Amino acid sequence: MPTFESAFLAIQAGLEQSGHWRILPTHEPATCYADFSHNDYLGFAQDAELVEASHASAQRYGMGATGSRLLSGNLPPHLALENLIAQSKGTQAALTFQSGYQANATVLAALLDKKVLGTTPLVFSDRLNHASLHHACQLMGVREIRYQHNNLTHLRSLLEKYSNDPSPKFIVTETVFGMDGDMIDMPAFAALADTFDAFLYLDEAHATGIIGPDGYGLSSGWINQRGLAMGTFSKALGVSGAYIACSQVVYNYLVNRCQGFIYTTALSPAIVGAVHAAWSRLPTLTDMRTRLLGKAHYLRQHLHALGFNTGTSNTHIIPLIVGHTTLAFHLQAWLQQHRLLTSIIRPPTVPPHTARVRIALSATHQDAHIDALIAALTTWRAP
Ligand SMILES: Cc1ncc(COP(=O)(O)O)c(C=O)c1O
Repeated sequence: MPTFESAFLAIQAGLEQSGHWRILPTHEPATCYADFSHNDYLGFAQDAELVEASHASAQRYGMGATGSRLLSGNLPPHLALENLIAQSKGTQAALTFQSGYQANATVLAALLDKKVLGTTPLVFSDRLNHASLHHACQLMGVREIRYQHNNLTHLRSLLEKYSNDPSPKFIVTETVFGMDGDMIDMPAFAALADTFDAFLYLDEAHATGIIGPDGYGLSSGWINQRGLAMGTFSKALGVSGAYIACSQVVYNYLVNRCQGFIYTTALSPAIVGAVHAAWSRLPTLTDMRTRLLGKAHYLRQHLHALGFNTGTSNTHIIPLIVGHTTLAFHLQAWLQQHRLLTSIIRPPTVPPHTARVRIALSATHQDAHIDALIAALTTWRAP
């Protein structure tokens, strides 16, 4: 029987040997020329209007919500934000959560409850979905049927294969993929879910603020009684927390059955105030979004000319897929020498042999920042 310590050290030894042991990197944006490593896609994290709105909300309602939503924590700012989100997304209702991870892990888990559905559901999930979505399936003991990344033909063939199975079916996907920067074909996914009577669970973490009508994501107008959209406040909105936009029936069910909603303190009024200000501002930022996506297109063209593999990216998230983790570290270090910050994403977050340097473009990046990145990449040589 190993001791606790020897069991944990054995994991460390294995991960170190395979190059997958992680340590917390120190993030020092102040010393860099340009930071492409964060998800603050609109520059809202430092926005004075959001800080002011947060301050005003905290002054009026306090720093803390003081309890869970079903007890003392259901304050007017929560309800106002949820009404606004539901209105923007074209849904009957919306519900807020403390983080995107918490929302996915606990909302999806509540929906997959076999005691409620009468039988174990079938979950068709994109093989590159975020860890929080897999977590929900593991939690509920549901086996995922994983389809090839963003491949509708493969998904359809799997749905057909199981079409005589009476179990309830779920399709789970991100709408903009956080590590690959590609998007789903929203109408095609909605049609497939309709045809096979499947519940469509959409994660809009990386779409929210950037993609879709008024920047409210790809799913606006597509969510019906058999589906929902989740999105985060932690990326383009520059704050933290998450929402679910859904039907009234799903909302009522989650308020009663979602443990990650019921047994936790409500979002701080300070956070809700800032998120409300950010969310309200999105429709005025169409030009900013167009410029951001234009910059991404410009950068991708130069990267391709240099021979870099950017996978299927067609958004503001651009991976430089180099394959081996040590090569990704080499490239990241090279960029860091040029005072350009990027992130390394490696297995198991992404599939084996697809380690990458992730470039996240933000509206705050100027042309000179992008040109500096291109110049540094032009002189990089793999060892
Ligand atoms: C697709 C996706 N969903 C959910 C999350 C979790 O969001 P949060 O950081 O708000 O917990 C992330 C963040 O990494 C994400 O990329």
